[in-house]
Amino acid sequence: MGIETIGVIGAGQMGNGIAQVAAVAGLRVTMVDVKQEFVDRGMATIRKSLAKMVEKQKMTAADQAAALGRIGTATDLSGAEGWDMAIEAAVENETVKKDLFRELDQKCRPGAILATNTSSISITAIGAATRRPESVIGMHFMNPVPLMTLVEVIRGHATSGATAAAVVDLAKTMGKTPLEANDSPGFVANRILLPMINEAIFALHEGVATKESIDGIMKLGMNHPMGPLALADFIGLDTCLSILQVLHDGFNDSKYRPCPLLKKMVAAGHLGKKTGQGFYHY
Ligand SMILES: NC(=O)c1ccc[n+]([C@@H]2O[C@H](COP(=O)([O-])OP(=O)(O)OC[C@H]3O[C@@H](n4cnc5c(N)ncnc54)[C@H](O)[C@@H]3O)[C@@H](O)[C@H]2O)c1
Repeated sequence: MGIETIGVIGAGQMGNGIAQVAAVAGLRVTMVDVKQEFVDRGMATIRKSLAKMVEKQKMTAADQAAALGRIGTATDLSGAEGWDMAIEAAVENETVKKDLFRELDQKCRPGAILATNTSSISITAIGAATRRPESVIGMHFMNPVPLMTLVEVIRGHATSGATAAAVVDLAKTMGKTPLEANDSPGFVANRILLPMINEAIFALHEGVATKESIDGIMKLGMNHPMGPLALADFIGLDTCLSILQVLHDGFNDSKYRPCPLLKKMVAAGHLGKKTGQGFYHY
């Protein structure tokens, strides 16, 4: 049976993007968050994003209405038994994710695939919190989900080939390009990206250059679309710190130690674009 109905857990910047892209691709979606206001904020973002697509003539008003009509919302997992698959995009915290997967495992029907959009946490460990590790997989979308084409597909130690094949197919249905990786801290994308971002923060912390210079040098010099500090703001500084901690713990290598300035900014609640203040003001 194909995947037609999915639950997206987390209505934050990634969750609402995944829900949007899935609904546009014709899937029925339930977007779940812990509070109604978070779900409402996620829906508002989706409405705005789809309206922009209509404005740019990338989508008709009829398709926009149909996509919106395919998205429902919830503040708990009580409807999970009706889903063919769940894609979890809650906070980057191993305990939260394991608790969620335990509950999803209890509520979703046997055979339903449980995917996580984690940036770095072990798929094997998340799978081991369930009784169906063969159906647990990493489906790592990039931010912003509607624009970025890559989906990193990560198999845990016990993930079955059938699960991986179904998720590769789903990613293609969603208009994305899936590329596979094995389970290892940070997988491929963030294992390479986060040390660069961390190094940029160290350069700022040590007064090597201003934030504008650091970002400008990387943009112009490396032809990157945005500088690493702006990118960190965009990802979320809490998420960046969590990923670096997973790399640091997972490899037990000091080269991944998070810069003290990053830790301080997260402690201050300056999490980047989503809170209006990070390395830049929004
Ligand atoms: N930000 C990025 O660029 C990016 C890119 C790829 C992957 N990711 C990953 O995607 C996930 C989400 O990141 P984000 O940037 O969307 O974070 P975010 O902070 O914007 O959103 C997280 C959402 O999850 C909700 N949440 C927390 N616990 C929950 C629970 N138990 N049930 C339901 N909802 C819950 C929060 O209320 C919040 O709305 C993380 O694992 C992150 O590492 C992020």
